[in-house]
Amino acid sequence: MDEILPHYTEIIDGNLFWDGTNILEVAKDYGTPFIIYSENILRGNYRKIKNAFNKYFKNVSIDFAIKSNFNPSLISILSSEGCGMDASSVNEIKIALLSGVSPDNISFTPNNVTIEELKFAIDKNITINFDSLSQFRMVLDHLPEIVSFRIKIDYGKGEFPGIKTAGKGAKFGEIPELALQGYREAKEKGCRRFGIHVMAGSNVRNADHFKLVAQKILEVVKNFEEELGIEFEFVDMGGGFGVPYRPEEGELDVMDTAKNIADVFKAFYTEKGREIPRLVIEPGRYISSNSGLLVGKITDVKRQESNFTGTDIGMNILMRPALYGAYHHILIANRMNEERKFKTDVTGQICENTDRIGKDVMLQEPQIGDIVAVFNCGAYTMSMASNYNGRLLPMELLISDGKLITIREKDNFQDIVRHTKFYESAKTLKD
Ligand code: LLP
Repeated sequence: MDEILPHYTEIIDGNLFWDGTNILEVAKDYGTPFIIYSENILRGNYRKIKNAFNKYFKNVSIDFAIKSNFNPSLISILSSEGCGMDASSVNEIKIALLSGVSPDNISFTPNNVTIEELKFAIDKNITINFDSLSQFRMVLDHLPEIVSFRIKIDYGKGEFPGIKTAGKGAKFGEIPELALQGYREAKEKGCRRFGIHVMAGSNVRNADHFKLVAQKILEVVKNFEEELGIEFEFVDMGGGFGVPYRPEEGELDVMDTAKNIADVFKAFYTEKGREIPRLVIEPGRYISSNSGLLVGKITDVKRQESNFTGTDIGMNILMRPALYGAYHHILIANRMNEERKFKTDVTGQICENTDRIGKDVMLQEPQIGDIVAVFNCGAYTMSMASNYNGRLLPMELLISDGKLITIREKDNFQDIVRHTKFYESAKTLKD
């Protein structure tokens, strides 16, 4: 049976090409490890989800979840498409602002932040989706123009327990009774503009999930509006739009997803005799995931009770397999015409036994020096990478108009010791 290849890949003379680019040549020219992104794919993903929601909603804002990838070049590309941004920290807000996104196209959905972070957003006129009544009360005397709470509905679903972001046991959002109290206090303080937010889970490829979330949040909208005599001017459904990590998996149908949500909204607001308010969505992974490829080198092959293929791209760069048991598709870029008959774990250079980027993977017979390509590394890869074991963060490249540009230089040794002091020099500075 012919192998199913991930989208945007081709094999030419046994070598892997991705988005028209010869990955081996890039590896030779730049050295590994690196993450390479495709401007085409990034823009295409955004347009696909935008077109789907524009078809069913008159008023919709799409805010890219910066946490999935905060490289400013990628943020600027999305901003040039008219995409807004959702930030989870002040630094993400700053990146959005520096990349040319205007404050009214930025939302801020943090948790457990300090009063300074909340005030920073308020002073910039950025909409905050408050995570709790107590966080909201920290700024009671400095209220934003619009008050919105992230509601913890009684339902959540994620590909892994670790990425379920609502429902019992989730750390995010406020329970409806306490959020209601928050809106009441905002109203008493003179606030007249309100929004509401929900985010029920991540990497969901089933369009019915979003219908259920829409129903759940609109039940809350109904109760709160009746109780408080207010009207919400936006409903933010968060992100969670899933992507296939295995080439044989099906895609989330975003048209169906948008239609599902729209059906629920239409029925609800028709009964109320009102226009559907602005819908906000915050996709991260859907836009960025398959726009990035992680490329590394095979640095060892151990043939033991099981096989271990060592690489220079371990959990320090791609944390998801170690953290959640996530699957990422791996190919040996220079052996694409050979049969996959070598069963192996693919590991990194980190001193942790969980340092695997693939478990029981069938690969072509590997050799030290081969080049490996790991798919779906545009989301939650670089943004979750670390310097563990003193390893350097990789460089980031972008395929733009058929040319390669560097959008992040590789770290160097100075970068990892820059803010630390060697003991003797620390003592000298102190004296
Ligand atoms: N908006 C809010 C408020 C969120 O908490 C998240 C993700 C998103 C948007 C974007 O979700 P997406 O569309 O990307 O699913 N590190 C995990 C994912 C954690 C998601 C947490 N919140 C992973 O690697 O799968």
